[in-house]
Amino acid sequence: MYKTKIAGIGKYLPENIVRNEDLMKYMDTSDEWIQERTGIQERRYAKKHKETTATMGARAAEVAIQRAGIDKEDVDFIIFATLSPDYYFPGSGVLMQRELGITHKEAGCLDIRNQCSGFVYGLSIADQFIRNGVYKNVLLVGAEMHSMGLDFTNRGRNVTVIFGDGAGAVILQPTTEPDQGVLTTHLHADGTHAEELSMISPGAHGGKHTGLEGFGFPDPSVPGDVFVTQKMVDDGLMFPNMNGQLVFKTAVVKFPEVIHEALTKAGLSSEDIDMFIPHQANLRISNFVQKKLNLPDEKVYNNIQRYGNTTAASIPIALCEAWEEGRVKRGDLVCLAAFGAGFTWGSALIRW
Ligand code: UT7
Repeated sequence: MYKTKIAGIGKYLPENIVRNEDLMKYMDTSDEWIQERTGIQERRYAKKHKETTATMGARAAEVAIQRAGIDKEDVDFIIFATLSPDYYFPGSGVLMQRELGITHKEAGCLDIRNQCSGFVYGLSIADQFIRNGVYKNVLLVGAEMHSMGLDFTNRGRNVTVIFGDGAGAVILQPTTEPDQGVLTTHLHADGTHAEELSMISPGAHGGKHTGLEGFGFPDPSVPGDVFVTQKMVDDGLMFPNMNGQLVFKTAVVKFPEVIHEALTKAGLSSEDIDMFIPHQANLRISNFVQKKLNLPDEKVYNNIQRYGNTTAASIPIALCEAWEEGRVKRGDLVCLAAFGAGFTWGSALIRW
């Protein structure tokens, strides 16, 4: 029976640094507010017209492929996690495949839409394929280009200040080493609060569940009634919105819960964790979870201060940096956990 190991890891962050002070030109905010509430000092924004979610994913993937010591043609399957795709359809997976020039095998591409927990969901999916002997080299990417879809007015300031762009990638391979590989993954969701962290338009909802039934959405029974209306644009329905307090309160419960679920399944305790990589949602959330798990600072990796919240990319970027800094070594027990829109959440334990 195979297990799944991370054979190569890479990341890509756009060069352009946007500091908290830079956002003050567009909205009423301050460095003090952002740092105090989120820990964020700066984030990266991609280069308009030059970079996309798929191209950033490709840059991270190239590093992961090279570090795994394989050729891009060896990739048998691609999983791409994002909430900010290049197109409404097709998914960014095929665009990244084209960008990488992985064409000779016609490797399958799966796009997954699990927002902040996209990387953990993707890892779990890849793990099933690898354990069952279906694939030998799965390329899993989390990438986001939030900067092109944020509301840079006061209306969107609670969301806009937290997000940043970037990409992370891993090559996943089978291993038969007894002391290596993914030990367990746990995935959960509860759609009760789906709209509390969402970008609802364009979409086929017509206002249902949004409290906006009388808003003047297109009528699908009328031929030619359009998908996107000017009113939607004017009212900011094309931007993400978040009930930050509800997300925060739920996250601090679900993070510890799903981590303990994984530890229990693996017969381990939080003391066994060598490195905890939480989804970089908010430094206060990470600190809270760290305390709950009773972990010392050197066993937790946070980089939200420099990159903001990069959603599906945040775990692979942080894991990559931790590995590059020598803070994740062969044999270490690595714990990943995420919570976000959906709500969806999950955890994974990996023996590196
Ligand atoms: O990764 C996806 C999952 N997302 C998360 O995990 C995010 C979880 N939530 C959070 O991180 C926090 O809720 C936020 C950082 C988003 C917001 O912090 P908060 O302490 O929950 O603030 P709040 O939304 O309750 O707003 C407090 C005040 C409000 O003003 P009033 O009504 O008290 O006068 C807001 O209008 O802060 C105001 N505010 C801002 N002020 C300056 C909201 N955004 C800003 C801003 N700058 N950017």
